[in-house]
Amino acid sequence: LGAGRVAAQADKANYDESKVPHYRLPEPLVCNDGRRVTSVGEWESRRDREILPLFRSQMYGYVPAPEVPLSTEYTVLSEEEALDGRAIRRQVRIRFVRPATGRSPADRQDVLVLIYLPKDKATGEHRGNQRGVPVFLAYNFYGNQTVNADPGILPTISWCRNNERFGVTDHDGSKAIRGSNAWSWPVDTLLSEGFGLVTACYNDIYPDGTGNRDRSVIRLFGDTLQRADGWGAISAWAWGLSRIMDYLEQAPGVDASRVTVTGHSRLGKTALWAAAQDRRFAAVISTNSGCGGAALFRREFGETADLICGPVGYWFCPNFQQYRNNEAALPVDQHELIALMAPRPAYVASATEDLWADPRGEFLSAAHAGEVYALYGYRGLDTFTMPPADRPLAHRVGYHLRTGQHDVTAWDWAQYIPFVKREVCANGK
Ligand code: GCU
Repeated sequence: LGAGRVAAQADKANYDESKVPHYRLPEPLVCNDGRRVTSVGEWESRRDREILPLFRSQMYGYVPAPEVPLSTEYTVLSEEEALDGRAIRRQVRIRFVRPATGRSPADRQDVLVLIYLPKDKATGEHRGNQRGVPVFLAYNFYGNQTVNADPGILPTISWCRNNERFGVTDHDGSKAIRGSNAWSWPVDTLLSEGFGLVTACYNDIYPDGTGNRDRSVIRLFGDTLQRADGWGAISAWAWGLSRIMDYLEQAPGVDASRVTVTGHSRLGKTALWAAAQDRRFAAVISTNSGCGGAALFRREFGETADLICGPVGYWFCPNFQQYRNNEAALPVDQHELIALMAPRPAYVASATEDLWADPRGEFLSAAHAGEVYALYGYRGLDTFTMPPADRPLAHRVGYHLRTGQHDVTAWDWAQYIPFVKREVCANGK
């Protein structure tokens, strides 16, 4: 959103803890018929099957079967050494094609995927006799070229929101400046810690603006009239992450059983929704995902259902509109989105100055998800007392409140990397 727009919206929000209404959260371990879940078997066979469809039909929307099955083509556009020999940089075009109608640009959608792998681990003499590396998968906001100043990155050219900081004007994503968001992408650290990085611009799937549904991948599905429970942009982006995962399952040098999906803000919401649905993701990390992400709707603190539906209602399914100023009627809340991850590791991060995203609501969500992890014998956060700023708390579920603004920083990554090493890479994997 433009800065002015956020400010106008943000002014309407409540930031006073004493005005948070009394609320009752839906209970993850109580079935719709009132029966209590007491075992993993019951959770997996019954209760998580009740919760997931509710998120689909009431919040993010279902992905329909396409009118005509799409075909998917993978093309490796380049693969070479990069970053002074520390990395292999592979760039892959994933193309979704509506086969019956020919091959005009209107019948296809391209996603440009940038992959860095640590060269010493993923290739060369080790290749073939060693499994691939664990990776972080994350969408970027303004194009692959913004992630690093590496001149070899093929620029993403999609429609983008305008943003002077990243050089985007006229919605022309190709103008985005190389390396302009590099502070959020510690590529060198990831490589030296043995991780790969996989990224693509979310606008390649659904250009993030009102009225862009017809430029999104949704049009290839022949899904012109959106149903009340039909997919909004977040579901489309989450679908895209699963399609990138399809590629990673066959990508040389990558260990697809150790993919951590992560994202910031609206892309944190997207990462949570993608990982809740697609159990191939080994872990999820959301940074400042806020309303519609990790934050509890029922707190009505910072951004609310009503405030989010105003400018960006298209992120959700039309059914979601009925919860504006009516949070108590939601049949789910966001602790259950995190619970759907169980027993896979989940980490939620907030920032002290990002009250719009409701840090306490994000924390409480992660804390309440813990009871489902406990069924599996894992420790969640194990407390309902929020830790002080800059003091991470992490078992199988992790949380931190970083001092500072709405952003992803090196400090955030410095918490994520050891968490993933311990919970994804060490635990028998
Ligand atoms: C806006 C929006 C948030 C979102 C954020 C972002 O502030 O209201 O819901 O998380 O943009 O994606 O940066």
